[in-house]
Amino acid sequence: MCVLFLHAYNFSLLAKSLNLLSMDNLLLSVSDYEGEARKKLSQHDWGYFAAGAVGGETIKENCEAFKRWRFRPRNLKNVSRVNCATEVIGSKVPFPICIAPTAFHRLCAPEGEFCTARAAESIGVGMAVSLWSNKTMEEIATEVPNCIKWCQLQLTKNRIVTEHFVRRAEQNGFKGFIVTIDEPVFRNRDHRYEDGRPFNFDTSIRSRNIEQSTKIVEPDQSAFAAFQSWMNGSVEWDSIDWLKEITDLPVVVKGILTAEMAIKAVEHKVDGIIVSNHGGRILDSTFATIDVLPEVVKAVNGRVDVYFDGGIRKGTDVAKAIALRAKAVFVGRPIIWGLACRGEEGVRNVLEILKNEFIFTMQFLGVSTIEELQTTPDIVVHETRYFSKL
Ligand SMILES: Cc1cc2nc3c(=O)[nH]c(=O)nc-3n(C[C@H](O)[C@H](O)[C@H](O)COP(=O)(O)O)c2cc1C
Repeated sequence: MCVLFLHAYNFSLLAKSLNLLSMDNLLLSVSDYEGEARKKLSQHDWGYFAAGAVGGETIKENCEAFKRWRFRPRNLKNVSRVNCATEVIGSKVPFPICIAPTAFHRLCAPEGEFCTARAAESIGVGMAVSLWSNKTMEEIATEVPNCIKWCQLQLTKNRIVTEHFVRRAEQNGFKGFIVTIDEPVFRNRDHRYEDGRPFNFDTSIRSRNIEQSTKIVEPDQSAFAAFQSWMNGSVEWDSIDWLKEITDLPVVVKGILTAEMAIKAVEHKVDGIIVSNHGGRILDSTFATIDVLPEVVKAVNGRVDVYFDGGIRKGTDVAKAIALRAKAVFVGRPIIWGLACRGEEGVRNVLEILKNEFIFTMQFLGVSTIEELQTTPDIVVHETRYFSKL
């Protein structure tokens, strides 16, 4: 007994000296990163990233809903080689997981979006740069020139400022626009901490990216104040037509949750759709995005690519969304957690965890290509449908 104890003690000393038991080595899953990020970030910053709108129903539901979709594997097939490369908004990527636009990366790491973009560049996946990034588009393009970047836009009644963003993105090698359509008016005041207390955003946190364009018309006003006044709920589909006219880059709309909206988007000749409810931060009590994905895919019927975000925390989640015919998924908070814990390395690690888990899932399901994952009938089914047939 004593000998065993001594062996265990010696092993733990050896492991410690080899750094095998350091905290970083325990960051093996996205949820490990979440737990560690919660400890690392200030209460305000954690609250900002974690917050959901009003009752927090959608934010929870996005993750919970994945559990109700179940796999039906087909094994004894050669899955020794898996190919999950694909194309996202016109760019080739090695696997179908990209970075969703999220604001203010400097709250997580001093170099902010540089770290996120470097991680994306090193792996070859794409990053949607939030309009509210701390670093400007110009700085990111100079510092991380080979990162596949898309510019997230928020359309407002002020088209002069929107066009300024468009020209800056075009001049700095961005590969397309992701237009967020689910936030017609500015919502920040009723976000909540997880324990239900109201969260108040510290408006002294600045986005130099957005300021660079707002100041051309409002040099004396903060970007927050200016944007808030322009986001007055007046934007309609003609703004998408206008955007398509002023740029040759692809335009993808983010925030589609219904067949009706998807059909409208196709009619307005968008180049892609992202099924998204903004990670539960805007309209509370929507369906989870994974639950509405099939409705949108069916309505679009292959006319444009359908992408997905919301609640992706594991490789199985990625596999479910791809099996339900999303072309690729975008990931929001997990990237933030990686950035908060270990900067560029953390973002890379989170992406790699999701990729590896996704590849294992494909192998365990008995598929070796995305096409196979998407065309094997009922490889993922909703449990209510399954049980109702029994
Ligand atoms: C802290 C935070 C900031 C966000 N900022 C933006 C933004 O500036 N523009 C935007 O289109 N979406 C924004 N989103 C929404 C994300 O792009 C994405 O839809 C959502 O995070 C996906 O859900 P997930 O966090 O569960 O992956 C933000 C989300 C979070 C959590």
